[in-house]
Amino acid sequence: MTELEQDLLSTLTQVQATLSTVSNADELEEVRARFLGRKGLLPALLGKLGQVPAADKPAVGKTLNSVKQQIQQAFEEKTASLQKTSACSHALDVTLPGRKRHLGHKHPITQVMDDAVAIFRRMGFIVADGPDLETVWNNFDALNAPQDHPSRTPEDTFYFNLKDENWLNPETMILRTQTSPVQIRSMLAKKPPVRIICPGRCYRRDTPDATHGMSFHQIEGLYVDRHVSLADLKGVLAHYAREMFGENVTVRLRPHYFPFTEPSVECDASCIICKGQGCRICKGSGWLELAGAGMVNPEVFKNVGYDPETTTGYAFGMGLERIAMIRYAISDLRLLYDNDLRFLQQF
Ligand code: PHE
Repeated sequence: MTELEQDLLSTLTQVQATLSTVSNADELEEVRARFLGRKGLLPALLGKLGQVPAADKPAVGKTLNSVKQQIQQAFEEKTASLQKTSACSHALDVTLPGRKRHLGHKHPITQVMDDAVAIFRRMGFIVADGPDLETVWNNFDALNAPQDHPSRTPEDTFYFNLKDENWLNPETMILRTQTSPVQIRSMLAKKPPVRIICPGRCYRRDTPDATHGMSFHQIEGLYVDRHVSLADLKGVLAHYAREMFGENVTVRLRPHYFPFTEPSVECDASCIICKGQGCRICKGSGWLELAGAGMVNPEVFKNVGYDPETTTGYAFGMGLERIAMIRYAISDLRLLYDNDLRFLQQF
C-alpha cells in the first residue's frame, strides 16, 4: 500500500471519529471545512495524486474514490441525524396532553353556604351580616333567653374576660352561639318589613366529635311584616328543601321550644339517601333534621321596639355542616377542618 493510500484511509477514520462527536450544525460546518474545504485535508491529498508512479495509479485511484464516497456518506448521515434531533427539540408536539393549571376551589361548607344564600335570595331575602363577637344582650337577653337557661353558662358558651357572675351582664362579650343575634341587629336597624338571611360562624363549648365542633356554621332567616303566618314559613322551608336536595323532597314540622319563637317548630326533610324508607343516615326514621324555626315571639318584638300587636314574623336557623355532610356523604365533621388537601380536593 502506498503512503498516499495509508493517508487516505487514516483521513477516513479521522473524519468518522470527529463526526461522532459533532452535536450541532455549526460544529458540522467546521468539520466539513477542516476536511473537505479548499485548504482541507482531502483536497491536499488529492493534489498528491500526480506524484504517484503510473503503475500504482489504478489502485490508488480506486482507494481514493471509495474513501471520497465513504466520507461523503458520513457527512450525509450526520446532517440527517442532526436535522432529526433539532426538529424534535424545537417543534411543538401537538399530540401531548395539555398542561393543567391547578386552580383553587371553594371549601365544601362555602359551596353549601353559597347555594343556600342563592336559593333564599331568589325568594327575596337580603343577606345581613353580624360580628362573631357579640354581646350577651344580643345573643341571649334580646332573644328572650331566661337568665337560668343552661346554654348561657360558661360551660356552654365562650366568654371574654370572665369574672364572678358577669356572664349574666348584658354587656359582657361572647363568641355568638347562634346566628340569631343578627335578627336583633337587623330589626334594631330598620322598621318592618325585614326579610334577611345571615350565613355565619357560631361557637359553642362542645367537645369535638364526628358530629360536633367548637365552631360551626349556621344560616339564619327572618321575615317580619304584617300577616306573616306559619304557613308562609312552611312554604319557604319546603321550597328551600326542594331546591337544595331535589324535587321529590317533602318537609314536616314538629313542635319544639325556642325562647325567641312562639310557637316553635323543628323542620325535617324526607331523607334524601333512602327516600323516606329509613336508613343509617336518618337513623331509620326516614327524616332528616333541617332547621329550627317558629313565629317570632312578641317579647322579641318588644325588645327591638316593634309593636307586638301589629307585627308578625317567622324565623329559622339551620346548620350548614350537616347539609354538607349529607350532600357529600362525609362521615366525620372534623375532616372538613383538618385542611388536608387530599380530602378537600375531592369536592
Ligand atoms: N338559633 C337556633 C339554634 O341555634 C335556631 C333557630 C333560629 C330557631 C331561628 C328558631 C328560629 O338552634
